[in-house]
Amino acid sequence: MSVDGRIVVVAGATSSSGVATSRALIAAGARVVAVGSNVERLHAFERSVDGAATRVCDLSKLAAVTELASSVSREFGAVDGLIHLVGGWRGAAGITAQSDDDWAAMESGFTTLRNTSRAFFDSLAASEAGRLAIVSSNSVERPTAGGASYTAAKAAAESWVRSVADGFRRAQSGNKTASVPQRAAAVRLSIMALVDDDMQRDNPEKSYAGFTHVDALGQAVVGLWQGDAAELNDSRIPLS
Ligand SMILES: NC(=O)c1ccc[n+]([C@@H]2O[C@H](COP(=O)([O-])OP(=O)(O)OC[C@H]3O[C@@H](n4cnc5c(N)ncnc54)[C@H](OP(=O)(O)O)[C@@H]3O)[C@@H](O)[C@H]2O)c1
Repeated sequence: MSVDGRIVVVAGATSSSGVATSRALIAAGARVVAVGSNVERLHAFERSVDGAATRVCDLSKLAAVTELASSVSREFGAVDGLIHLVGGWRGAAGITAQSDDDWAAMESGFTTLRNTSRAFFDSLAASEAGRLAIVSSNSVERPTAGGASYTAAKAAAESWVRSVADGFRRAQSGNKTASVPQRAAAVRLSIMALVDDDMQRDNPEKSYAGFTHVDALGQAVVGLWQGDAAELNDSRIPLS
């Protein structure tokens, strides 16, 4: 199994993690459809990633995501992968400082995941190697007062992905009437924080210990197609 020839949607692709993930997928032979809500940022993405198709879509709107899924499958064929990167970070001084604005921003990461996973679920389940992945946070295991809203949204996203994994299992290896080998997997990648070359260049004195380089994230995403779906499904993979 490999990602070569697979069609992979990178949802929220215009940050450095999306650029690195898209580059790694394309280098491994995948066809990437990169999605973002901001046209300028998508144009910048196009200038730095060769070979990806791009789509503008506000992933917080289910109708728009449903239309995106239809147009992608019409143009490229059935989707094999959904790498959901919309997330962001907001922190505050403690519990009483957790604002509604910050929660709205964090909750968007969860809403967009609900939308993309519902819109692409059937295609991923039908693929001979369907993969869905999110990038979660180590803080889900050790929540802090300052990151309460952020971590609550990530915990919700993790729970949702586990439910998607159960959906994949019930459709395949767990289907009592028509059991088929597990082909699809929903996975939570977990990190402390991301770092890229620009950050390291801007702060050469900083060690970035415990950070995950965006290129390592890209390789981990490519590796999802090398692993066994039954083992990968519902797994939580810490990245260093
Ligand atoms: N950075 C870290 O240190 C860190 C730590 C732990 C976990 N993570 C997780 O890792 C993932 C990637 O993080 P990141 O910092 O690289 O990226 P990010 O800031 O979370 O954003 C990723 C992308 O989401 C897109 N986006 C936001 N709202 C959208 C919407 N409504 N519709 C479509 N696209 C939307 C943005 O592009 P547009 O503006 O073009 O829409 C952006 O390219 C996230 O899930 C994040 O929570 C990151």
